[in-house]
Amino acid sequence: MTPKSAVLFARSKKLHVNGVSHNIRFFSPYPFVTKSAKGKYLVDVDSNKYVDFWMGHWSLILGHAAKQVLAKTKEQLGRGWMYGTVNKNTVELSEKIQSVVPVAEKIRYASTGTEATMYAVRLARAVTKKKIIAKIDGGWHGYTTDLLKTVNWPFTQTESAGLTDEEHIISIPYNNLEESIEILKSVKNDLAGVIIEPILGGAGCIPATKDYLVGIQEFVKKKNGLFMLDEIVTGFRFRNGCLYNTMGLDPDIVTLGKIVGGGFPIGVICGRDEIMDHANTQSHQRKNRAYIGGGTFSANPMTMIAGAATLDILKNARTYSKIKKLGDTTRKKITKAFDGQVIVTGKDSLFMTHFVKNEITEINNAQDVAKCDSTRLQRFHFEMMVEDGIFFLPGKLGAFSDAHSEADVKTLVDAAERFSENK
Ligand SMILES: Cc1ncc(COP(=O)(O)O)c(C=O)c1O
Repeated sequence: MTPKSAVLFARSKKLHVNGVSHNIRFFSPYPFVTKSAKGKYLVDVDSNKYVDFWMGHWSLILGHAAKQVLAKTKEQLGRGWMYGTVNKNTVELSEKIQSVVPVAEKIRYASTGTEATMYAVRLARAVTKKKIIAKIDGGWHGYTTDLLKTVNWPFTQTESAGLTDEEHIISIPYNNLEESIEILKSVKNDLAGVIIEPILGGAGCIPATKDYLVGIQEFVKKKNGLFMLDEIVTGFRFRNGCLYNTMGLDPDIVTLGKIVGGGFPIGVICGRDEIMDHANTQSHQRKNRAYIGGGTFSANPMTMIAGAATLDILKNARTYSKIKKLGDTTRKKITKAFDGQVIVTGKDSLFMTHFVKNEITEINNAQDVAKCDSTRLQRFHFEMMVEDGIFFLPGKLGAFSDAHSEADVKTLVDAAERFSENK
């Protein structure tokens, strides 16, 4: 099916480490090479068409090349795509974010989520004058030098050579409040903050319980550390705004990305005024201030206008109710199709199938996911790619967009039934 992809990927391997620029984009024997994308479809260089559930690392909630975003970005191209100066598009996007994300009393932009979480950690350390940051076992916040630890099983190790700050990062188990608090207590007085995804994304699409998040928030604030929520996946995914304000949470810093850039590169640091003011170069001397945000392409007019066009559409709850229904039905039907072999985690439009083994009956954290059969999940995804023209990045969670429909749920469930019968 993919001879042209094979040739192009062989060329890519000569040029790029592992043939890719992001490790997770490689899958065996070689990934197809994309030619174009529109609506729910990705098209490869051999003209195979795939219904896409990866949706640009889940950033494309309206689908590929959504017409409203396309129109606005095309207009913007004519006015210039890179100013490197203050621009109106930024003010307009920030007003939209601030109107629905109360913690965003002040905002700074970067070009990736990785930078946003890196800046959040730096700011927490600058504000508290403490060093230790706690993250979650399996928590993924990008390739930041600070947080590239305990991402994969057994959640005790650094993920990369070349890091320098490992001893100042500790890790706690998701949805296990008692054990997490025990670990946090061991830090004594040096806890600068905790950074958590309200839904553990890359590590298995697992919602946190409200009690867990409230408990962690309470503890960290009592210790004068900062409670940071990484809503890079969850922000604007389930509602016009973040998840935290539906859970009675009061974070000090929230990071956003993906959807708020309308599919263009973005990372956002949002925080309360008194916290963000520590980055203020006018009121703080060098030794007391943190540099956060910025970069050549930060707040570029293309990203800003694409984000604003996306948020304009998301103001109308129609998209959310549509994709929630698609996700809810999918979770129910895939669970039924596999008749006890799987647990399908997620929330609303995000979902992930876990092939259970090792007597797993519930999935509450990354440790539970690590006991499931990830090889079988990858085979399921790979088979759908080849047999059904359905694309998941093998082994990763899926996302519905406004471009999907009930028909896609049916194709997916039919594929699940076939896979369940054959294996
Ligand atoms: C929760 C979370 N935080 C941070 C990041 C990093 O964002 P980026 O890939 O834009 O650097 C990701 C990326 O998937 C993510 O899922």
